[in-house]
Amino acid sequence: MQPVLGIESSCDETAAAVLDGDGRILAESVASQEAAHAPYGGVVPEIAARAHLAVLPDLVRGVMGRARLSFGDLGGVAASAGPGLIGGLIVGSQVAKGIALAHRLPYVAVNHLEAHALTARLPGLVEGSAPFPYLLLLVSGGHCQCVAVEGVGRHVRLGGTMDDAAGEAFDKVAKLLGLGWPGGPALEALAARGDAARVAFPRPMLGRKGCDFSFSGLKTAVALEVARHGAEALPEALAADIAASFQRAVADVLADRAAHAMAMMRVRAPEAHLLVVAGGVAANGAVRAALGAAAERAGFALVAPPVRLCTDNAVMVAWAGIEQLRLGLTDGLDFAPRPRWGLECLSHGVGEVAARQRRG
Ligand code: KG4
Ligand code: ZN
Repeated sequence: MQPVLGIESSCDETAAAVLDGDGRILAESVASQEAAHAPYGGVVPEIAARAHLAVLPDLVRGVMGRARLSFGDLGGVAASAGPGLIGGLIVGSQVAKGIALAHRLPYVAVNHLEAHALTARLPGLVEGSAPFPYLLLLVSGGHCQCVAVEGVGRHVRLGGTMDDAAGEAFDKVAKLLGLGWPGGPALEALAARGDAARVAFPRPMLGRKGCDFSFSGLKTAVALEVARHGAEALPEALAADIAASFQRAVADVLADRAAHAMAMMRVRAPEAHLLVVAGGVAANGAVRAALGAAAERAGFALVAPPVRLCTDNAVMVAWAGIEQLRLGLTDGLDFAPRPRWGLECLSHGVGEVAARQRRG
């Protein structure tokens, strides 16, 4: 297959990448909008959409130039078409469709969650290229779920959060501790200097049947602990202990829920033996260590892609495009981006495949 261009614009990272037909990265680029949103303490959708529009054309030209390709050399164009913020999704989809239309290329509307799910199959990451089926734990700022990944377009959600996503909990607790946004990396740095045994925070859902998550009670417990120490700024040593204690609680909960999910996976598919972690929270060392230990106990191997492939990027979008193009799956240029687009909506098997080929 000829190289494929991937575009990511579903949240606050604008990214473009070109992969050759075997999935080797020829060029990639990510422009973070963190600085634009930081003053507001979170992503502002209107600012995000305008920023995608401002930088995406140059980003695409840049990766094509570094890959020494012109659009006519491509075998297809893939863009995240949901779930995510609709303004950004429209920008990325329209750029991809414009290139596809002008150069008569196949277009693939990629589900952003499926792109995270398929990252483990990028050549070179896992020996044997992560054969289906495997278990995915997706832990990002917007998502927290366990998914049985059974094939391209075939995913079964085993459980998910009932309130906040894990990354959202990190961001909210970081705010309580007076750290900047996004809070995950700053909180991890602070926690490295703290004592994780100082505060016994609750472990919501620990031991509970299934693999659902809940983080709002833990966040409230941190808020109460911070308030207990009065209105003045927390001494740094105390803030570090709270950060470390919170991080340990999240890691314990994620490891417990993943253990339950692995047991469920064993029943669904006894041959499954990989636990793949994706999303920004997968960058956290304590989380990775806890998941690694849980996987080992369950006889699974943990696959934690490099951090730059765990957070939002276009390599995973191009790769998801390649996986679909290999199966002959393309989308029509009338495909409308979807702010809400659950992974289970792809699981229509043959019917969905047939429908997509008709549209294409
Ligand atoms: O996957 P991602 O880049 O974007 C989406 O949300 O889709 O994830 C960002 C989230 C943020 O909530 C951020 O605070 C969290 O991942 N995060 C971390 C770390 N790095 C990023 N959380 C904990 N520890 C980290 N080192
Ligand atoms: Zn993401």
